[in-house]
Amino acid sequence: MKLRIPQDIEYKDINDPAFARMASVCAPYSLTVLRGLEPFYALYKAVEYLVKHNITGDFAECGVWRGGSMMLAALACRHFGDQTRRIHLFDTFEGNPEPRPEDLDWDGQDPHPTWEEYQKRGMKWGYGGPLEDVRRNVLTTEYPQDRFVFVPGRVEETLPGAAPGSLALLRLDTDLYESTAHELRTLYPRLVPGGVLIVDDYGYYQGARKATDEYLAETGAVILLNRIDASVRLGVKVA
Ligand SMILES: C[S@@+](CC[C@H](N)C(=O)[O-])C[C@H]1O[C@@H](n2cnc3c(N)ncnc32)[C@H](O)[C@@H]1O
Repeated sequence: MKLRIPQDIEYKDINDPAFARMASVCAPYSLTVLRGLEPFYALYKAVEYLVKHNITGDFAECGVWRGGSMMLAALACRHFGDQTRRIHLFDTFEGNPEPRPEDLDWDGQDPHPTWEEYQKRGMKWGYGGPLEDVRRNVLTTEYPQDRFVFVPGRVEETLPGAAPGSLALLRLDTDLYESTAHELRTLYPRLVPGGVLIVDDYGYYQGARKATDEYLAETGAVILLNRIDASVRLGVKVA
């Protein structure tokens, strides 16, 4: 099966029918595929690595939109023979809060006017859908239902209260400075050595990048945060 994405890029180096199937099932529920399949493939390989090397801990994503990335994580987990990990989904389920001045995008564009426009029209910026829709989406994976943990609300309020004890996979995708900084402060210490950190917005939003750089510099965390695509960064926690 050839892998194609909307821009019609071919992925000749990825010859993995299982991944191709999962990617096409999950693509309608994720924003990460708008730039290409690299973020999905990186997540798939991260899950393979965690399962094969028995790196224990739950999975968490902050900012799930319609649930596509965690659908892929669940399908990959099943595919590689593990259905034990809990998958925590943190989201307001009401879209993004008001951006602050540091939340410019990579071109220096301020998203605040867009947020305001959404507010005026009674719409929600960055909204993927209600929790019940996201639950329905992730349950299509047939990953054990009781392994999904939904945490509605702003992460600034739900964390650290609803934080899992230990994490093998931490995927951050709430776009903005404050939430990303809060997620790193409350969740990165729970990522086990050998665990995988993914920062989806590092290349796209200046605030997410600032929060990540500040956290890593302040804590001296040892991690090679490497480029997956123009926005996504992925690293394996050393210590
Ligand atoms: C870019 S979307 C996530 C995309 C998703 N990870 C994917 O694979 O397509 C950003 C999500 O973050 C959520 N969000 C933004 N700020 C948040 C906050 N402070 N706390 C919780 N969720 C937040 C929004 O509701 C939205 O669903």
